Amino acid sequence: MTPWWQSGAIYQVYPRSFQDSDGDGIGDLNGIAARLDHLVALGVDAVWISPIFPSPMADFGYDVADYCGIDPRFGTLADFDALLAAAHERGLKLLLDFVPNHSSSEHPWFRQSRSSRDNPKRDWYIWRDPGPDGGPPNNWISDFGGSAWAWDEATGQYYYHAFLKEQPDLNWRNPDLRRAMMDVLRFWFDRGVDGFRIDVLWHMVKHADFPDNPANPDYRPEMGEMHAVHQLHSTDQPEVHGIAAEMRSIADSYPGDRVLIGEIYLPVERLMHYYGLDAPEVHLPFNFQLIDAPWQARRLARLIGDYEAALPPGGWPNWVLGNHDRPRIATRVGEAQARVAAMLLLTLRGTPTIYYGDEIGLADVAIPADRVQDPRELREPGLGLGRDPVRTPMPWNDSENAGFTTGEPWLPLGPDWRTRNVAAQGVDDASVLVLYKRLLHLRRKHAALATGDFRLLEAEGDVLAYERWQGDERIVVALNLSAEPQPFVIPEGEVLASTLGGEPQPGTLRGDEGVVVLTRP
Ligand code: GLC
Repeated sequence: MTPWWQSGAIYQVYPRSFQDSDGDGIGDLNGIAARLDHLVALGVDAVWISPIFPSPMADFGYDVADYCGIDPRFGTLADFDALLAAAHERGLKLLLDFVPNHSSSEHPWFRQSRSSRDNPKRDWYIWRDPGPDGGPPNNWISDFGGSAWAWDEATGQYYYHAFLKEQPDLNWRNPDLRRAMMDVLRFWFDRGVDGFRIDVLWHMVKHADFPDNPANPDYRPEMGEMHAVHQLHSTDQPEVHGIAAEMRSIADSYPGDRVLIGEIYLPVERLMHYYGLDAPEVHLPFNFQLIDAPWQARRLARLIGDYEAALPPGGWPNWVLGNHDRPRIATRVGEAQARVAAMLLLTLRGTPTIYYGDEIGLADVAIPADRVQDPRELREPGLGLGRDPVRTPMPWNDSENAGFTTGEPWLPLGPDWRTRNVAAQGVDDASVLVLYKRLLHLRRKHAALATGDFRLLEAEGDVLAYERWQGDERIVVALNLSAEPQPFVIPEGEVLASTLGGEPQPGTLRGDEGVVVLTRP
């Protein structure tokens, strides 16, 4: 039988911004529980929740101070168990966000580690003497800008942090640390979670000798300082694969289809290694290509074809349009093309992940300077690298604060929430929400879409066309990636979904038109 994570669709919840239940302006677990019926109505199969563990929130939960607890802002372990039960009652799977590369500097492990050079936890983190010039041990740069090494006065060494200095990297070469972290997976699997999204999986192991990274000759400051060097020695080291394989064997030791999804930003050939070369690794190495791809049919056709061709035997594809770190699709391609993008995401071969709010066409929200929260923006301001604009509260209805909170929302709502919200779109047949529902429903109804084969069709200009099939069922998807009409002969058959509605025209796709057609045998 096909595992649920192949036929199903995943929905990412950014917990601070989904639904507040206690009026503090920050979303929480009881809030998510209260909104599960939206996800059921939408037609997704699994919910992945960004980190909810105790955290000083230097990086909004990606700085974990206790891997086996719940931050009081989000609720309690009992609230979590109730949410998990409520999700399962509705047939929804629940995935957590595992952050193994680094902890918070407030984690008791790090406090012990920094307390003295001979503390048993010293080696659980990455400590090095200064370089020959007395400065940092090498030229590695934090993904958030600046040296990736922080000086510790008390013990006279530097520690490594790929992100904030409040997020010291864990030393996965230490067997005790490795065992302790594997136990974290077991802790949550034992409670019944259906899987994990694994944060920055490709960062987890660094070169044992810490050589300098090579300079990037194409670096321009507006890219962000991390791009000044290629992360050749600080990421994607061969030893990470044994760790991923061990995580997989733990997942596989549990009943039901538990799933592991890896956050990995690497070129396709390297990404493919994370399916596992010698032993299975993650089920789904996140495929982020649609986020960076130029929105042109020929470019997308090549990218999709190359990705399909690169998949290892048995490797199941997946597609992502957006997440809590990257500009939203509606902002990248505009409102009309965001509908075309939804059709693409939900009809390509492979598991789609939907970012909360995209189902109502939410766009990036401009954040006034005095309300900026994201450390990425605060450290390298004005480059457009900040992530607050894509993390704003979910607009549910046109009541106070869009139904998100009775308090002051931690980030502002967008300007259009009175009309762009779940309640309003739910009753508007032409809304993007209804389009999402229709497409997700089609995936459940037509095996050709959920698990069928895939091939690109010949098309010209800005038309992307492909066929999906299973058994006798054949479905053609044709997408016009421009606002201008484009020549294309839509095959005879039943139009199952359209981004525009109305009747397709002969020999042409209207501007911004996408169609899903069940062709006649
Ligand atoms: C991942 C997360 C991002 C976080 C970073 C450090 O890329 O998606 O939000 O800031 O890891 O944990």
